[in-house]
Amino acid sequence: MPIITNIEDLRVLAKRRVPRMFYDYADSGSWTESTYRANESDFQKIKLRQRILVNMEHRSTETTMIGQKVAMPVAIAPTGLTGMQHADGEILAARAAKMFGIPFTLSTMSICSIEDVAMETGGHPFWFQLYVMKDRGFIERLIERARAAQCSALVLTLDLQILGQRHKDIRNGLSAPPKLTIANMINIATKPRWALGMLGTKRRQFGNIVGHVQGVSDMSRLSEWTASQFDPTLNWGDVEWIKKLWGGKLILKGIQDPADARLAADSGADALIVSNHGGRQLDGAQSSIEALPAIVDAVGKEIEVHMDGGVRSGQDVLKARALGARGCFIGRAFLYGLGAMGEAGVSKALEIIHKELDLTMAFCGHTNIETVGKSILLPGTYPT
Ligand code: GLV
Repeated sequence: MPIITNIEDLRVLAKRRVPRMFYDYADSGSWTESTYRANESDFQKIKLRQRILVNMEHRSTETTMIGQKVAMPVAIAPTGLTGMQHADGEILAARAAKMFGIPFTLSTMSICSIEDVAMETGGHPFWFQLYVMKDRGFIERLIERARAAQCSALVLTLDLQILGQRHKDIRNGLSAPPKLTIANMINIATKPRWALGMLGTKRRQFGNIVGHVQGVSDMSRLSEWTASQFDPTLNWGDVEWIKKLWGGKLILKGIQDPADARLAADSGADALIVSNHGGRQLDGAQSSIEALPAIVDAVGKEIEVHMDGGVRSGQDVLKARALGARGCFIGRAFLYGLGAMGEAGVSKALEIIHKELDLTMAFCGHTNIETVGKSILLPGTYPT
């Protein structure tokens, strides 16, 4: 068993164990991937200030996100096709999140269904991410299903009505389940652990969709499928409709611009997520950590501001928190753990990030995450 000390170790192992098509799906951005790279590299530019001789004996990273208690300011982000990184991936990740005491967000585009996750995690509340599709009856039923499963927040994604082009997905012919072409079979033959897991589960298609929408069985090309199903007319009126229909905690995901943040705050949602969809949509957009401060300035007093994009360490979480993010969503960081080692790998990813966060907070002279602010950052090194 390789020794795992950081998220990068998990990524390397996941790359070995997950079929190329699905590893590439997770680990790529759109077009030149400049935004995807900037999400990570902009975190590195921000410098922390060390403080010494502060009593650091008792420490806590506990806080709340949308009023719900969390062991650290981190939630698992909704990621499509999670159950293709590892058999039953969504169930495993939801269990790891539950054990750790942080929220798990299930994607509309998951392999395990809402009902699967609810049942296999003993009814523990999780968050559900919604994509709005043209068939509004289906959306109403999805919301009803999320309510029946006692999901404690709805995360409404607003930046994927059309799909940014990811070159590798086209080249790999991404589909779920994978088409058994010669190239795929040869690649899968080198991933026995993954294949064995997949043979042991029934869940190999979009669990929330197949059987619930007429005419949808598998997904051929992701881009064609999205173009046919997702609603490009989505607007703020629909957000209002969904808010009413859901009636519970609502988080709006995919905000990059302070003008949109203003509209999000005015919509009455509980939180927004500063996000460029992991650099998978508008290539050339600024990184999330760079976009964050202006949004916090514009609406931070009215609505909780969260962020995602490029978070690969506890240091990143601390920097985001210092810049005003109430919490961070992690996508790839947990997917690497899942692809590498299943549930144990997700737990490992959470432990790694928590330990980095806890120790780094202490090095910066704080013992409680609630007191961390901009003063831990070196002036001139962070976006304003
Ligand atoms: C879907 O969320 C994607 O980014 O592929």
